[in-house]
Amino acid sequence: MTTIGILTSGGDCPGLNAVIRGAVLKGATVHGQEFVGFLDGWRGLVEGEAIPLDRPRVRGLSHEGGTILGTSRFGPFQGPDGGAENIARTLDRLGVDAVIAIGGEGTAAASQRLHEGGIRIVGVPKTIDNDLDQTDYTFGFDTAVEIATEAIDRLRTTGNSHKRCMVLEVMGRNAGWIALHSGTAGGAHAILIPEHPESIEQICEWVTSVRDRGRSPMVVVAEGFTLPGMAQAHSTKGLDGFDRPRLGGIAEVLAPMIQERTGIETRATVLGHIQRGGVPTAFDRVLATRLGMAVTDLVADGQWGHMVALHGTEIVRVGFDEALVDHKSVPEHRYQEMRIIFG
Ligand code: F6P
Repeated sequence: MTTIGILTSGGDCPGLNAVIRGAVLKGATVHGQEFVGFLDGWRGLVEGEAIPLDRPRVRGLSHEGGTILGTSRFGPFQGPDGGAENIARTLDRLGVDAVIAIGGEGTAAASQRLHEGGIRIVGVPKTIDNDLDQTDYTFGFDTAVEIATEAIDRLRTTGNSHKRCMVLEVMGRNAGWIALHSGTAGGAHAILIPEHPESIEQICEWVTSVRDRGRSPMVVVAEGFTLPGMAQAHSTKGLDGFDRPRLGGIAEVLAPMIQERTGIETRATVLGHIQRGGVPTAFDRVLATRLGMAVTDLVADGQWGHMVALHGTEIVRVGFDEALVDHKSVPEHRYQEMRIIFG
């Protein structure tokens, strides 16, 4: 009998519970595996804090947002009990044979290091930003895009009523996928992403042309976007000691600049963590369930150092090392294809 410890690490993401449910239901039914859940991401693994996870505990979870295990940005090499050797001892003590780590790029990098240190570990990719390479989509992204698109639809009606320009800031520290997809779905007049600089003059030209044909301009900006010559939004240190960009920066910088240069009254909205909360979309529930089920096969086959991923419509296996070679940015041609219809 193999006992597997599951953990969810990094920013939470709609669909995490569906992964846990898929893994426990399939693992127990098909492979005869047993499960525990480490609490608060790597912290629970490092400190040996785990709860039992059986079929009754995970039933009915596919629609629930957040993660029943809790999460944090704590790393497995942090603290006196961190590192592969200590973790191997902790796993031994708890009777856990293998680990399933559900997380983003940082989790994949840490998992690869632990794998090199001899830990039997496999992974499930997760990020609402959709910027993890070697997987076509990550669960949570579709939900975030739905929420951002709804926000655009809502901002449009109030913008139209007041003849204002509306600037919506969405998540996306290093990649503009949420901005690109929600802006496209919501018919934004300008989409601004970290991968592609645009000048304030160009942005104002788009805004003015929309106003000139009697419409209210809608600008969607990813939190990681910067104007040429502008410093990246300053970072703040979380309680976990990690630096991350301050949310709520760029829309509030752009809105007054647009208002001053175009004479159009402009308002900024920062969507923030609303994009990460609540129930996952059907697409994300299905993807997360399939990934959770498939990752138990990796354990059964002893294919350590790998994660499951979506290629087209199929769930495949990818080495952590392969997934870490590149960061999945929005390719220039994907941006240019939408830029044709801005303004
Ligand atoms: O990586 C996912 C993400 O949601 C980013 O888009 C965002 O910048 C960051 O997490 C926010 O992190 P936190 O919830 O720790 O403030």
